[in-house]
Amino acid sequence: MSEFEGNSRAVTSSQAGVHERLVEVVQRNLANPFKKPFADHTRAAFEQAQQWVDKQGKPLIFDSCCGVGESSRIIAQRFPEHAVLALDRSEARLDKHQRCFDETLDNLLFVRADLMDFWRLAEEAGWHLDYHFLLYPNPYPKPGQLQRRWHASPVFSSLLNLGGELVVRSNWKTYIDEFVLALNEAGIASSTQDYSAAEPMSAFERKYWASGQQSWQCWAQLASD
Ligand SMILES: C[S@@+](CC[C@H](N)C(=O)[O-])C[C@H]1O[C@@H](n2cnc3c(N)ncnc32)[C@H](O)[C@@H]1O
Repeated sequence: MSEFEGNSRAVTSSQAGVHERLVEVVQRNLANPFKKPFADHTRAAFEQAQQWVDKQGKPLIFDSCCGVGESSRIIAQRFPEHAVLALDRSEARLDKHQRCFDETLDNLLFVRADLMDFWRLAEEAGWHLDYHFLLYPNPYPKPGQLQRRWHASPVFSSLLNLGGELVVRSNWKTYIDEFVLALNEAGIASSTQDYSAAEPMSAFERKYWASGQQSWQCWAQLASD
């Protein structure tokens, strides 16, 4: 299986339901700012993105963990009055986008960056988003991988502070259930639904649906102050 085909099997986990330590981990992360130094390459990527954002002068949308960026194009076309940053750490996936689509969109920029740093840099710079899409983040389903899931990671508070309408999708219902609980710990209401649409919006969404899997979605309005 190639890197781009990814894994379209249903998520299996020895974790039955929400992780027993989820609330404790989220509370600890929310109470303690993450101080890890920024990687130089992500700082450089952020500075370039900042110049582009300044030039655009439009309200911002993030498509975080964009993969090959199909969703990013759809979002940029759907929101022509917004500047869309498509963010992923995988050069191979971002390169694949360039190979598949000739036409560039004026309001879409692909940035190779580690979100562990990029979200914090954006927060530090005072950025506020109108929308934030997080489609099919890696589920890290082993119980010992809890803190690699975004809602249990030390950068969760930065994701929240960036604000905007947040859309998270997963093919692992537990991921969405945990996300909702983590938001709740931060005092943020959210809604969930089993998600379907006439057309898939991303490469992973297409693969999951083609193999008969279901998607779940969490939506929340994050404070933008
Ligand atoms: C399962 S893929 C989903 C891609 C795309 N959203 C889709 O639906 O087709 C998850 C993506 O998250 C990216 N990713 C995981 N951890 C990341 C991090 N710390 N910073 C940036 N990207 C990350 C991976 O490189 C991968 O492309």
